[in-house]
Amino acid sequence: MLSKEDNDLLTQVSNGAPMGQMIKQYWWIPAALSEKLEADGAPQRVRLFGDNYVAFRATNGSVGFFDEACPHRGASMALARNEDNSLRCIYHGWRFSVEGVTVEVPTQPQNEAEYCKHVPLKHFPVKEEAGIVWVWLGLGDTPPPFPELPFVGLPAGHTTAFRQKVNANWLQGVETTMDSAHLGVLHQTYTRTMGAIGLTAVNQAPVYHLVPQTYGFRYAAVRDLPDGRKYVRTNSFVAPWYGVIAAGEPSVPRGALFFSVPVDDENIWYWNITYNTDSPVLRSPAIMPSDGDSFPPLPPGDENNNWGQDRQLMKLGHFTGFPQALGTEDFAVIMSQGPIVDRSKEYLGAGDGALVQVRRTLMAAVREFVDGKVPALTKHADIDYSSAAPVSVMVERDAEWRSVL
Ligand code: FES
Ligand SMILES: [Fe+2]
Repeated sequence: MLSKEDNDLLTQVSNGAPMGQMIKQYWWIPAALSEKLEADGAPQRVRLFGDNYVAFRATNGSVGFFDEACPHRGASMALARNEDNSLRCIYHGWRFSVEGVTVEVPTQPQNEAEYCKHVPLKHFPVKEEAGIVWVWLGLGDTPPPFPELPFVGLPAGHTTAFRQKVNANWLQGVETTMDSAHLGVLHQTYTRTMGAIGLTAVNQAPVYHLVPQTYGFRYAAVRDLPDGRKYVRTNSFVAPWYGVIAAGEPSVPRGALFFSVPVDDENIWYWNITYNTDSPVLRSPAIMPSDGDSFPPLPPGDENNNWGQDRQLMKLGHFTGFPQALGTEDFAVIMSQGPIVDRSKEYLGAGDGALVQVRRTLMAAVREFVDGKVPALTKHADIDYSSAAPVSVMVERDAEWRSVL
């Protein structure tokens, strides 16, 4: 349970709210799928933390990231012509290079070059990694280092990324990612049929161990298996929003990251990156949707029809009535909580340890930020991101679970 003040501090990210300011200052933010930006193609509108931007791929393949509003009189730069490594606003023809330099102001025939120097175009640094365009929206000239998450630097084809826009606050997304207790309940129709040991074993109640880390925390689930061994599976919460999850069979070097990026206070992009350190990621429809900007599917309805839940299917044995995808089940429940859940009315129990730890971790950081300090969680040079790589292994019953970390 949280007070209204604490809930606001954790959930509000727009209009100068401290959480939004902190995240924008200290972390790179995923903004668009690389494949959706075509050289000299249409700029993409991007809304993050309640503000509007455009991303575009220039003639030379590099990506530009500007405020959406033209600095002249606010026409949308999404309408701009994308040409000559620049965007040209269609209203009066002002032209801005992909690096963010104003290069032409045709409505200023006198002193044009001098005039250009003073046009306040807001533009932001970008990086491409794992098929995603990441942006830094902080103040100043020095972006933070990119965290060495387990997918960073893998060859093309070893990662895949997709996302879906969901009407829920970002913390609801992060909480469902870290909430292992719901796996064997909400997703039981999938976990029963998928057959992978990693998923069938989640139906047995594990013993959880939380291990604080410089990046957030690690979360080990230890289960006794019928054959006398122990199954140890670790997930990590990496600030500000990454759930790093072991995927599939033990000993397959594969993992997934789920993260919830604020569009504004009441909407997120719910992102997924799947990666394989040793070989290309298998191309199956479940992990390679035809449109990476809208996967997994949203529930097929809204609050007026119980989000399109299929009661007939439930009579036939489906647990939730959302057969579209495992993620659809998550979206249905987090949307049903309302856009920003009132955490002063919740009633937590033993199964909620990880999400309580998520809140504590974020709360400690945002309190430091509000006090004018650099939060410990943001000192990237001091953080060992490599230990966030997930583990999924069987060990002998008398083995110490910590030995696998
Ligand atoms: S509004 Fe863009 S050039 Fe005038
Ligand atoms: Fe889930």
